[in-house]
Amino acid sequence: MPVIVVRDAAYAVDLAMALTSGGIRTLEVTLRTSAAFAAIRFIRDAVPDAIVGAGTVLNRAQWERAVDAGAQFGVSPGLTSEVASAARSANLPFLPGVGTATEALRAHDEGFSVQKLFPAEAIGGRSLLKALYGPFPDLRFCPTGGINPENALDYLALPNVVCVGGSWLVPDDAVENRDWLRITRLAQAAAAMRTAPTL
Ligand code: 3PG
Repeated sequence: MPVIVVRDAAYAVDLAMALTSGGIRTLEVTLRTSAAFAAIRFIRDAVPDAIVGAGTVLNRAQWERAVDAGAQFGVSPGLTSEVASAARSANLPFLPGVGTATEALRAHDEGFSVQKLFPAEAIGGRSLLKALYGPFPDLRFCPTGGINPENALDYLALPNVVCVGGSWLVPDDAVENRDWLRITRLAQAAAAMRTAPTL
């Protein structure tokens, strides 16, 4: 799943089409720029192949604006009771960010059994995911933070990893140069990364 930072909503549709035409349909548009809400709206309206969500959702107000913009899911780098409550009110799929066993347990208790492990590489990466599998065999994770084409397959091979996310699919210089073909090729390579789960 691409973690996207949109600096100008005017290119959001071209970017989304570049990704979907490469086979990557689930797009996380982070709320890290003022263009993000408009970008979500434009993608929702113009790219029916895309499933567009809001990333970096930090509070209830952002959740509500994201829903108004047409977001179809939410992602947060962490979890507070306010964000959990807003996610339940939105009644949309939500990936809360966790980084420890306690946070994973709390997020599970809040009703979320698929979680974003963040920042994955910095906090133990695959070793941490393998360790979490013991006490939490029913939890599933989308690790993000430091994932790239070199290590993505090793993450995807873990039984508790359902997907990975990262910014590598949308390099800043490709966007600056409006090099949509390069982004489609990165998407094609990512979409081809499939592996049978192993322990
Ligand atoms: C995220 O929010 O998931 C990260 O910013 C993505 O991390 P990356 O840039 O290391 O892929």
